[in-house]
This record gives sequence, structure tokens and C-alpha cells, in this order.
Amino acid sequence: MSLQDQIDKNNVPNHLAVIMDGNGRWAKKKGFFRIKGHEKGAKAVKEIVEACAEIKIPYLTLYAFSTENWNRPKLEIELLMKLLIASLKKELKTLQKHNIKLNAIGNLNALPIKVYNELFDVIKKTETNKQKTLTLALSYGSREEIIKTIKEISIKVKNNIISPENIDESVINNHLYTQNLPDVDLLIRTGGEQRISNFLLWQIAYAELYFTDILWPDFTKNNLFEAILNYQNRERRFGKTSEQIK
Ligand code: FPP
Repeated sequence: MSLQDQIDKNNVPNHLAVIMDGNGRWAKKKGFFRIKGHEKGAKAVKEIVEACAEIKIPYLTLYAFSTENWNRPKLEIELLMKLLIASLKKELKTLQKHNIKLNAIGNLNALPIKVYNELFDVIKKTETNKQKTLTLALSYGSREEIIKTIKEISIKVKNNIISPENIDESVINNHLYTQNLPDVDLLIRTGGEQRISNFLLWQIAYAELYFTDILWPDFTKNNLFEAILNYQNRERRFGKTSEQIK
């Protein structure tokens, strides 16, 4: 039986988030410039988006560019931004074919105008796709998101729109960039590092974490299916005992 056939279709993660790491090392190992790794990484993005559609994962969120990535060499940033524009143009048909709506989170105003315009063009063209949501985290940092959230809520408190006693999880959820997304069920990080790197800190409170040494450009459909099968073998207790959830 293929890996895909072994997956229990009724127990796939509702929201999968991925830290796509290892593009630079992949390129270095092969003697290429780093951008080659990002280009191959973009091909892996397409493969994984399609694989998630096939096994009907409703929400997929990809960490494409962090607030910290602005500190990379200027040329790498420029080439990554160009690659983003090209990928958005090229993959609109993939999104339409699989009925996927594009969404973006992060400090999007910090993006170059050409990226911003292309991004919102695709968001607009896919907004009626209801089955699945692909979210790109761009110029995203969880701490920046939390600061933004606290500022917005503080202003509402100051203007008597919210009273401090009424601040609960849902108030906070409604002010995060991810306000329209459910909590993350499974977080995958490729590339061998075992850290979160300022990604969705609030939203992964109860997520299962899966780390693999495979570099992102080498990450295939079958590697994704292995991660899903691993997830399906875990017992998610959400603080309860094993007996309570049986
Ligand atoms: C991490 O690898 C990857 C990134 C910072 C960028 C991710 C971008 C892509 C996968 C390509 C385009 C994206 C889309 C959505 C089409 P790294 O450069 O940190 O690798 P390293 O740790 O080996 O140096």
C-alpha cells in the first residue's frame, strides 16, 4: 500500500504549518548560488500544496519570509522577492485547479510594492475559492504580531471599546494576523534545526511538532505523507489524561 493510501482521511490535520528550511544549504552542497536553492524550494512548495489538496488538508501555512530575513544580503532579498512574484504569477492556475484561496499574514506593508500588488492580485482572484486556504507568512514574526495585537487591544481599552476583564483568548485571536485561521495542529520544520524561529508562537500552543533533516528543496509528497502518518500515531491529550480522551 502506498504511503498516501495508509493515511486516515478522517484524521488529517485541519491546519498544517511548515517552516521551509534548508534552501541555502541545499544549494551550497551542490556548489550553486543560494538562489538556486530557493528556486528548487519554490518547486517543492508547488508539490506540497498539491499534496495537501489531494489529502484534503483545509489550511496550509508556509513560512516564506520572516521579519529577521530582512537582515539577509540585499541581493538575496531582491532575488527572493523576484522569485515570489514569478511563483505567484505561475501558480495562480494551481490554486484555481484545487479550489485554494490565497491568504497572507505578516507586516505586508513592508513588502516591495510589486510583491504587494502581485500578492493581492492573486488573493483577489482566489477569494471565492472556499475549499482550502493557503497562507503565506511574509515579513512575518510572531513577536511583532503579538506587539501589534497588544497595541490594538490597548487602544480599544483606552477608548472604552473593550473592558480589560473581557480580554480572553478569543479577543486575542481576533487581533492576530491569523484571525481567520484555526489553531495549528501540526508544525513541520525541514532542514535539521529543532527550533520555532518566531513562527506562530501563540497559534502552536497545542500543535504536534515534527522535525526532519531533509532540506526543503528535497522535501517530497511522500515525505509529507510520512509526517502525516507520524502525526496520526500521536495521542493528542490537550492537558487531559489518556483515559479521558478514549
Ligand atoms: C529557508 O531556507 C527558506 C527561506 C528563507 C525562504 C523560503 C522560500 C521559498 C521556499 C521559495 C519561494 C516561496 C514561495 C512561497 C513560492 P534558508 O535560506 O534559511 O536555508 P539555509 O538555512 O540552508 O541557509
